Amino acid sequence: MLELKDVSFTIRKDGEEVPLVDRVSIRVPKGHFMAIVGPSGCGKTTLLKTIAGLNPESGGALFWDERNLSEDGDFSPSEIGYVPQFSIAYEPLTVDESVEAATRLRVRCRDTVELDNRIDRVLEETGLSPISDRQVKVLSGGQKRRLGLAMELVSDPKILLCDEVTSGLDPRSEREIVRLLHDLSRKDGRIVLSVTHSLSHLELYDSILVLHEGRLAFHGPPEQLTHYFSVPDTEEVYPRLATQPSERWHASWQKHSVSYQKMLERNRERLVASGVLQIPAAELAPPAAKGAKAGDTPATPTAPGAPETLRLPGFVSQFATLLSRRWRIFFRDRGQVFLQLAILICFPLLVILFSDKASEPIRRYSDTRQGNIAAEIQEQQSVRSDQAKVGSAVSGIIMFQVVLLSLMGSNNSAREIAGERPIYEKEKFGGLRPSAYLASKVAFLACLVITQSLWMAFFVNLFGAFRGDFIQHAGFLLLVNAAMTAICLAISALMRTAEQASLLSIYLVGFQLPLSGAVLALPEKVEVFTRPFISAYWGWSGSVEALQTQVHDAVKAVIDTGLSAQNGCLFALSAHIAVALIAAWAGACRPHWD
Ligand SMILES: Nc1ncnc2c1ncn2[C@@H]1O[C@H](COP(=O)(O)OP(=O)(O)O)[C@@H](O)[C@H]1O
Ligand SMILES: [Mg+2]
Repeated sequence: MLELKDVSFTIRKDGEEVPLVDRVSIRVPKGHFMAIVGPSGCGKTTLLKTIAGLNPESGGALFWDERNLSEDGDFSPSEIGYVPQFSIAYEPLTVDESVEAATRLRVRCRDTVELDNRIDRVLEETGLSPISDRQVKVLSGGQKRRLGLAMELVSDPKILLCDEVTSGLDPRSEREIVRLLHDLSRKDGRIVLSVTHSLSHLELYDSILVLHEGRLAFHGPPEQLTHYFSVPDTEEVYPRLATQPSERWHASWQKHSVSYQKMLERNRERLVASGVLQIPAAELAPPAAKGAKAGDTPATPTAPGAPETLRLPGFVSQFATLLSRRWRIFFRDRGQVFLQLAILICFPLLVILFSDKASEPIRRYSDTRQGNIAAEIQEQQSVRSDQAKVGSAVSGIIMFQVVLLSLMGSNNSAREIAGERPIYEKEKFGGLRPSAYLASKVAFLACLVITQSLWMAFFVNLFGAFRGDFIQHAGFLLLVNAAMTAICLAISALMRTAEQASLLSIYLVGFQLPLSGAVLALPEKVEVFTRPFISAYWGWSGSVEALQTQVHDAVKAVIDTGLSAQNGCLFALSAHIAVALIAAWAGACRPHWD
């Protein structure tokens, strides 16, 4: 039994408490199929989220069997399924792959046989078996809704909450989905609550809850709806609601609620007696027989109906599932693969192209060998004129590499979390650990960062004009790319939308060059405050320090900005990465439902 007792959800607006859901009280027995209807904006989604535990109730209490959800903790992830209004799966995956990933993330299976059985059963139940190898992007609206349901059914939830899963469908698909939800409520005593704006097919539900401006206006059998509102047709219910303020509807409902509750109970007894509704025997005993009234605090913590022990998969299992899914999505998206390859090949080529003119003076300058003092003086005089040219060219080439790698970093991760936030939130609600999620992102991005940075360093060292320690140079390029990737990942985890995250990341990269001091020096008073935060400066400075002595001195001779010791650069970039990952972690843990 699900019971809501005077449940309210209020928000603060202009310093005032505004109730979005106001003192809703209902009782929903096992195996019940209920519609939540009402005009747009009346609080249906808010009520559903309050039941799911996504909106903490501001008043009243929710009970699940004898458990007080407000005090004893919310539903466990496997007990509840929530299909949000715009449920989305990854477009490049197939139906089968989507359901498999959902199962692997939510249910700890003993072996692949159990896993396959579970997937097959859910596909069968939702009628998706014949199209299991189809990609999500080619599914029709109705098929997508079925997939959304299938992905929730993998854990056999005892309560299934659906938000507008029929909206935007043609009448036939709508009826099929309502029929499917009806059938799902007839198994294992599952409660199905379905929010819908539509007033069609109401006869398939066991009860209809009408919400008006956040208040309960009616909760009774579908055949009583028109009678209660004194209208000839269900379509007239919404216009009728608008004729009175919601307080009036709520007050009159409170007078009649008991008799309608009795009707619902009689209907249910009939369904059980005729065998249409199959409820496990333990669930059928009236609450009094269990020694407790619904709503009472249980005498023992292991009351009947306490969450069953469907265990969540471990960290490693969730991590492996997410990582392999990420690579699969990456390789299915041709555009993304092409872009990554283009960046990987073209950016180092750009560096070579820009350093072409300077390569001869750099070679001459750096190959100066000091034989005897007289020869050295002569040689140094001949190359002195090259010094300024070489110093600024080498510094510029290194900064160019650093900026290009920063750009790659932002391209790597700016949309990584923000672009899939609704899916991630749904999976987190279903038991996905934020730690496993973030670890899978770090592992995926680390592969990109290592490939990009090492290839850049290798290519430029092979064909370009870098004169210095390869390992140190490559190390700093890797660190600066990793720092920008981590920072943009944090932005992606903290921003509301992918567009915001992309924009902010691009600005961040754009400001790296002027604030680095490699081109123009800032006033010292300002520099003290900006420098610690500019990854590009530390990557550039560290790489310059890795140059062979003469070239290094040439750079120092032309640059006003002070250089930092290699250890300092290493520390600063490591700190950037660490802080960014902590921020990304905080962003990933924070609930971000729209
Ligand atoms: N977190 C929130 N903050 C402010 N207003 C909200 C919030 N959530 C919902 N609302 C407002 O509450 C009302 C009910 O929203 P909702 O439950 O989504 O309606 P429905 O699903 O019935 O269309 C709407 O006017 C909506 O704008
Ligand atoms: Mg809604």
